[in-house]
Amino acid sequence: MPATARIRIDPAFVVGEVRRELFGSFVEHLGRAVYTGVYEPGHPTADARGFRRDVIDLVRELGVSTVRYPGGNFVSGYRWEDGVGPVAERPHRLDLAWHSTETNEVGLHEFASWLSEVGGELMLAVNLGTRGVEEALDLLEYANAPVSTTLTARRAENGHPDPFAVRMWCLGNEMDGPWQLGHRSADDYGKLAAETARAMRQLDPGIRLVACGSSSSSMPTFGAWERTVLTHTYELVDYISCHAYWQEHDGDLASFLASGQDMDRFIERVVATADAVGAELQSDKRIDISFDEWNVWYNDRFENTDKITALDDWPVAPRLLEDVYTVADAVVVGALLISLVNHADRVAAASLAQLVNVIAPIMTEPGGPAWRQTTFFPFAATSRLARGTALRAVVDAPRHATPRWGEVDSVVAAATRDGDATAVFLVNRHPTEAIELELDLRSLPPQRLVGSTALHDADPYAVNSLAEPDRVVPSADTGAALRGSVLRATLPPVSWTALELRDAREAVR
Ligand code: AHR
Repeated sequence: MPATARIRIDPAFVVGEVRRELFGSFVEHLGRAVYTGVYEPGHPTADARGFRRDVIDLVRELGVSTVRYPGGNFVSGYRWEDGVGPVAERPHRLDLAWHSTETNEVGLHEFASWLSEVGGELMLAVNLGTRGVEEALDLLEYANAPVSTTLTARRAENGHPDPFAVRMWCLGNEMDGPWQLGHRSADDYGKLAAETARAMRQLDPGIRLVACGSSSSSMPTFGAWERTVLTHTYELVDYISCHAYWQEHDGDLASFLASGQDMDRFIERVVATADAVGAELQSDKRIDISFDEWNVWYNDRFENTDKITALDDWPVAPRLLEDVYTVADAVVVGALLISLVNHADRVAAASLAQLVNVIAPIMTEPGGPAWRQTTFFPFAATSRLARGTALRAVVDAPRHATPRWGEVDSVVAAATRDGDATAVFLVNRHPTEAIELELDLRSLPPQRLVGSTALHDADPYAVNSLAEPDRVVPSADTGAALRGSVLRATLPPVSWTALELRDAREAVR
């Protein structure tokens, strides 16, 4: 007999509002994210501006909110002016972060216009690697100033008289990482971020600013970095960033499936550090988290196989970080989304890194089709269904051992409630055992189950590919059944499930 996970949902157990920014993504000038990803003039589906319509449709279906741009490591060597003005006059430059050639065919104007097409909001990063306060101010003036100046006149000449009104700004990228151009100590970065933030706010007080947190929780400076940076910037910024990537190591599927445990711990430690700085400064302000890079990434493959280092090799749009995602990877992405929703009170924004071709839910072939990776499905469904208020799901689940994280709950869950709609997200992260679900809804008005969808496969390593783009698709055949106030289902091993419920009409009358 499979073991049973008992989960209770109560509208009184409120975590916080699920902000739309939680379902953001990230497009970096890296590999084929931009060129032959979102932009490919001459592609059969390309529009007049060179954007692939097939990709636009998939991005819309994915349901991303804010999109962070243009990096990533790339931004720390980027001159934003290279990407504006007549395309034929734009310089080609070496991109040191990814050992590539940047043609600058796509820049601020093109990306903003693509984003308005996909219904996303632009989140810009400024270069605090090779540049500083002045260039950040120039970019902010160019992008946001409503009055006429030399820079805003250039913006108008370049086709955008109205301000871009960019609200979210990242103060550099991963400045603690030795790989980052212009990498600094926490003290030096903290001072630079504070100066930049103060100046940017003087120009546009309405912007939301993100200070760089650690580039991962495994950095030796993790914690101390956040404390020092926030001590300099606490009253000047809104968010501290978190970045994290997970992968399966050495066939340890059990630990990999429990990656959400690590995300929970990461968020809670950064929140504790931020709150400690706030307490020390006797501030009434609260710093929230922008988890602006998260995903599964087989970084070992990049480091050992794909990385370009040869002095004479600086390709344009090479195939880099093109991870092909399995069902297990998608289940982990589903579990990471559960962790984000469960921390909706403190995670104000998050960006799935990235969006197209580069560690991405959407893949393209130059001149050919675009398709959904396995990770597309949990993201799209969670973005569509997780609305309103996040509720704390009380989980009493069987537990199993993992080599890396010790004993973990075999089932994790998140729930949201928006008006009469309730959504529940579940992952069975046991590598081999099915688990019976008993979902107790007695604290809600009478419910009806309006939909359910699950991702599972007999082969947890099944993938979608150019040859077989629909090998893995979610199934509506979940067997979930609601009787009275108890919903039952069988959660297969290595599976992700979403349930969509509505208050029954009778309850409204
Ligand atoms: O998303 C890929 C890279 O990962 C980003 O450029 C960098 O910020 C992070 O290390």
